[in-house]
Amino acid sequence: MPDAIFDHPRVAAVYDALDPDRSDLDVYAAMVEEFGAASVLDIGCGTGTLATLLAARGVRVRAVDPAGASLDVARTKPHADAVTWVHGTALDALPVQVDLAFMTANVAQVFVGDGAWRDALTAVRAALVPGGRLVFESRDPDVRAWERWTPERTRQVVDVPGEGRVEEWIEVTGVGDRTVTFSSPTVFHRDGVRVESTSTLVFRTRAELTRSLEEVGFVVDEVRDAPDRPGAEFVFVARKTSDAGDADSVRRLRRRRDAAELFADLDPWGLIEGGAPRDEYSPEVDALLDLERPVTPDEVQATFTRMAQPVDMVDAFGLADAFNAVLARHP
Ligand SMILES: C[S@@+](CC[C@H](N)C(=O)[O-])C[C@H]1O[C@@H](n2cnc3c(N)ncnc32)[C@H](O)[C@@H]1O
Repeated sequence: MPDAIFDHPRVAAVYDALDPDRSDLDVYAAMVEEFGAASVLDIGCGTGTLATLLAARGVRVRAVDPAGASLDVARTKPHADAVTWVHGTALDALPVQVDLAFMTANVAQVFVGDGAWRDALTAVRAALVPGGRLVFESRDPDVRAWERWTPERTRQVVDVPGEGRVEEWIEVTGVGDRTVTFSSPTVFHRDGVRVESTSTLVFRTRAELTRSLEEVGFVVDEVRDAPDRPGAEFVFVARKTSDAGDADSVRRLRRRRDAAELFADLDPWGLIEGGAPRDEYSPEVDALLDLERPVTPDEVQATFTRMAQPVDMVDAFGLADAFNAVLARHP
């Protein structure tokens, strides 16, 4: 479920007015030329500012976001007709082959669990041609940006044409080991409506980001500085060197996603909204999802017992049927 700040129609409609200076995107637009990219995938495109800017320059753009309300705003922009909009995540943007993929602003930091982050990177990798690049930004945890995310420093009131005065601010509500949770309410002065939104961002170190990229088969070419926040962010430029293994890894992602929905009660990957987040997927369950043949109830029972989530034989039969439906859906 996307955060309300991106998926509430009235809030999404004022997103650009509340953040009108998007000169932070200039550096990414320049990279399209630098790398000679003719096609781009914009992951977490939000209200489509970068996607439409690139489309206006003749770049072939596919843009994906799980927040439907943001996409609705994006579709109204000049040159939106030239963009292929996809409602969902990077996995939903497949199959596609592009020269360059972007995750701008907070996008790379929304993937809190390492498993979810690796899945996103795996899907992006499959979307790139061999030699294609992924470029994303992520805040340096050492800079502790969240310490400045106070209501006093962040509050703004903007007069939005057709909507009137709109107020918003940020308040940090929790700082974890490497996550920061904050609320960002939006208040519409015209009628007093207040829309609440809560977000959690993960702050990975440069070493953690490098390792995660290498694990899924990227080579890190460079880590640049973000001109709009010098010294505060890493801008990673990672390259895909070959497409070996893409088909298998995408099949596993699709199977995993379907299985996670089916097994919401057990949620062996901790993927379900509100479920306990896990850092790692269960390799035991993944092994079942990699099977080229139907799984047996015995195998299901043994797997869940090893994971300290025992199921009786009747449930094991039902789970095996469910697993097999997923396997058959993504052969
Ligand atoms: C801060 S906004 C950035 C939007 C845009 N990239 C920009 O620069 O304006 C973060 C975006 O990430 C999107 N997002 C959240 N979860 C996502 C996911 N799993 N896959 C792709 N995008 C996601 C949100 O819906 C939101 O539009």
